[in-house]
Amino acid sequence: MDLAAQLEALRDDGAARLTAAADADALEQARIELLGRNGALKDLKDAFKTASPEDKRSCGRLLGEVDQALKAAYEARDKSLQGAVDSSAIDITLPGEDRRAGSIHPISQVAWEVEQVFSSMGFDVVDGPHIEEDEFNFTRLNIPPDHPARDSQDTFWLSTGKLLRTHTSSVQSRTYPDTQPPIRKVVVGKVFRYEEVDATHDNTFTQVEGFLVDEQITVAHLVGTLQTMIKAVLRRDDVEIRLRPSFFPFVEPGFEVDVRSTSATGRFSNWVELLGCGMIHPKVLKMGGIDPERYQGFAFGLGLERLAMIRHGIEDIRLFNGADLRGLRQFAG
Ligand code: PHE
Repeated sequence: MDLAAQLEALRDDGAARLTAAADADALEQARIELLGRNGALKDLKDAFKTASPEDKRSCGRLLGEVDQALKAAYEARDKSLQGAVDSSAIDITLPGEDRRAGSIHPISQVAWEVEQVFSSMGFDVVDGPHIEEDEFNFTRLNIPPDHPARDSQDTFWLSTGKLLRTHTSSVQSRTYPDTQPPIRKVVVGKVFRYEEVDATHDNTFTQVEGFLVDEQITVAHLVGTLQTMIKAVLRRDDVEIRLRPSFFPFVEPGFEVDVRSTSATGRFSNWVELLGCGMIHPKVLKMGGIDPERYQGFAFGLGLERLAMIRHGIEDIRLFNGADLRGLRQFAG
């Protein structure tokens, strides 16, 4: 093979080999063999030096071309290999990265809706502490120390003598001393009971307490308010409510309220107990510095989990505070 043919072969085959190098190691090997100090190009350059003047004339330009072509091919491949990811570092069998958006907890959803309904009826949305004084949780609600009614709300006592509030009625007794009627307030918050946990009881749950104090307030106002709220939150018009007489020390008369749907089938076609309520006891108003001769009021306390369970057909209250996201995710969006 004459020199020109050798140069052409090196240009074509060498460039092709550099371009096809599978990885950095293969490229480096090809570079050494083609462009290195003892490589193929160097051999041909040496051959050129000793070539006949005729060959030198005809091959000078070709030699320059080969040199350039190989270097360009090397650089292009080097660049593309550096840009590429090292495929051996990727395990394509690994599960992908899971980026789920968070969602609003079903209890928060219901809580916001309840707050909205009451805001629309002119109630202030207020708050109170979880760690409560005995006085506000019990005494000022007409449950004196050592009264047996305390047993109806199993209590987490703290070593300081304070307690985790057992109901949101504590926000009533906190509110009265500083406020004169008209009062319309609603509070949504966690309450705590030393209770055995099962499908319908949790030791930590959420209550809504609504209370209203004004002149000439009757049970009819209470019933109308409850109906408005329940229909809005259950998102149906076919709900009936019924009041059963019941005892809570801070109301007189007191009731328990059941709801049912006139068109639903299944559990909700029967009466479901939903909340406690009544006309605020005159003693509670008096302890709060409000004249019970002039003012009356109603109050109610409702478990939000119960409401959310009816609304979504949830069978087990432990879903709400449990860590099983498969349950909670169903209420996203
Ligand atoms: N606080 C009561 C409970 O938790 C509910 C209630 C509130 C009853 C207001 C009457 C009036 O059981």
